[in-house]
Amino acid sequence: MQTSETLDLKSLIRSIPDYPKTGIIFRDITSLIAHGAGFKQSVRQLVDPYRGQGIDKIVGIEARGFIFGGAMAEQLGVGFVPIRKQGKLPGEVIGQDYALEYGTDRIELHADAIKAGEKILLVDDLIATGGTAAAAVDLLRRAGADIVGSAFVIDLPELGGTDALRAKGVDVHCLIAFE
Ligand code: PRP
Ligand code: ADE
Repeated sequence: MQTSETLDLKSLIRSIPDYPKTGIIFRDITSLIAHGAGFKQSVRQLVDPYRGQGIDKIVGIEARGFIFGGAMAEQLGVGFVPIRKQGKLPGEVIGQDYALEYGTDRIELHADAIKAGEKILLVDDLIATGGTAAAAVDLLRRAGADIVGSAFVIDLPELGGTDALRAKGVDVHCLIAFE
């Protein structure tokens, strides 16, 4: 029998071809989070390298970063801060544009969500090109955050996102890679 810490998390990720468009294989974490032991193991493995490092807050990226980030914040006993798509946060925000395959998008953070010097762990479900995570790093640094590291369930290494994030001086921790 497998213990709760020896599940093959990769086998719990469902792959859906040609979504959202032809040629893309969508790596779907809904099958992982619906599996109680799989979700628990993934949350533990995301936070474990950052225990004892004085993390003040977990910052999660909309939308799937919220699922893991909220559970990770509870594990560490710290607060959770959302980075959201443009126009979703009710208070005063700071924003950061980033490039998409076609055009640009914008993410936002409440201006008072991070105090200067706070130690932050950034979280999302997946890193592909790294454009979203790099914009989140720029936004957090503008807010004065000390980014201790970043954690992702899935890396798509061929798209170079983790290299791009490390080039910005950010520690990167991923649980699963899909080549
Ligand atoms: C996905 C994923 C990451 C981002 C990764 O989110 O959850 O946030 O794309 O891609 P990148 O490394 O190339 O920037 P998406 O933008 O689809 O938003 P959603 O979570 O709200 O569906
Ligand atoms: N975000 C960017 N690329 C993705 C993929 N292949 N699967 C799921 N989410 C993604």
